Amino acid sequence: MKILVTGGAGFIGANFIKYERKAHPQDELICVDELTYCGNLESLEEELKDPAFKFFKADICDAGEVERIVGETRPDVIVHFAAESHVDRSIEDPQIFVRTNIIGTQNLLEAARKFDVARFHQVGTDEVYGDLPLDRPDLFFTEDLPLKPSSPYSASKAGADFLVLAYHRTFGVNVSISRCSNNYGPYQFPEKMIPLMIANALADKPLPVYGEGINVRDWLYVDDHCRAIDMIIRNGADGCVYNVGGHNEMRNIDIVKLILKELDKPESLITFVTDRKGHDMRYAIDSSKITGELGWKPETMFKDGIRSTIRWYLDNRSWWEKIITGEYKDYYERMYGNR
Ligand code: NAD
Ligand code: DAU
Repeated sequence: MKILVTGGAGFIGANFIKYERKAHPQDELICVDELTYCGNLESLEEELKDPAFKFFKADICDAGEVERIVGETRPDVIVHFAAESHVDRSIEDPQIFVRTNIIGTQNLLEAARKFDVARFHQVGTDEVYGDLPLDRPDLFFTEDLPLKPSSPYSASKAGADFLVLAYHRTFGVNVSISRCSNNYGPYQFPEKMIPLMIANALADKPLPVYGEGINVRDWLYVDDHCRAIDMIIRNGADGCVYNVGGHNEMRNIDIVKLILKELDKPESLITFVTDRKGHDMRYAIDSSKITGELGWKPETMFKDGIRSTIRWYLDNRSWWEKIITGEYKDYYERMYGNR
């Protein structure tokens, strides 16, 4: 199988490429990534040494470029991760989210349609459902809920999901969508909560907790998400949406305290700061559909996953320290500047 991965230099995309190479070494992988502020080619250092792995630095908002790459590589499957993915940035500057997440997705769908790509998989988010109240622990997100996004980020992802379903119904493009909860693990950009808290704790800097820290997220180890996508692209039904989650609901403050404990740092580093605008209260996924249809279940317990994630950030300081200093941006020039 030939799989074209967009956004493969980002957090989940890079983990997905590593997962696929191990699980299906016979498959061909192509990565398309514009290397925006959060795309880091160093995450794919090993893969880039493999002559069978192809990397294209390209903007998915450039329709001509997308058509050229898909036409030239003729993938069987497109797995679409590339996105603006950080909620706080979408509150600062919504427009780039509309451009990348909606126009970029439509360009890829158009190319999938033109070149008869056998499956277009949209990597979606549980945030499209909005949020759940803290006092109703019996409520979960199911696939049939209406979409009710809260932030410009989640609204742009909902728009993208609608386009995917429209291309299925109107043009017969073979599609699937996964809507996953919060991921954590190696290679996550240190603007997201878990890596940011680890990096700040290691530097003895304040850990900025929004509001009272009582918002709840359903955390899933990134490899479990990658395995779910792998199962969907191989065995998932055409035109279907699958929710993916860890049944691991935790309050932000409890995660921050756990990180401090693991790193042997004092809780006095915790600093409560002004809340995020429109901050979603609780996310909780019902993943019984993917479990029932495809046999997927999370395999990594949070207590193990968070330990190995912290260990990874300790063992790979240069990966995230270069991000913090901005040095990682030179990597592409060093790697490709003179080729
Ligand atoms: P990320 O921000 O770490 O990576 C995004 C990648 O997309 C980067 O490599 C970036 O360079 C690339 N990109 C951005 N704009 C591009 C453009 N115009 N053209 C080409 N490439 C571009 O994101 P992530 O956390 O790995 O998330 C990946 C996908 O998974 C996103 O679609 C996100 O909505 C979804 N998702 C994320 C989570 C999570 O917890 N992180 C959970 C559910 C779903
Ligand atoms: O649910 C899936 C989504 O999870 C993905 O679609 C998004 O791409 C991904 O970024 C993530 O969104 P969140 O907004 O939930 O993740 P983030 O890591 O930004 O924040 C997690 C929680 O921690 C949230 O309640 C806000 C809070 N937070 C975050 C940061 C960065 C803080 O309290 N302090 C912080 O500094």
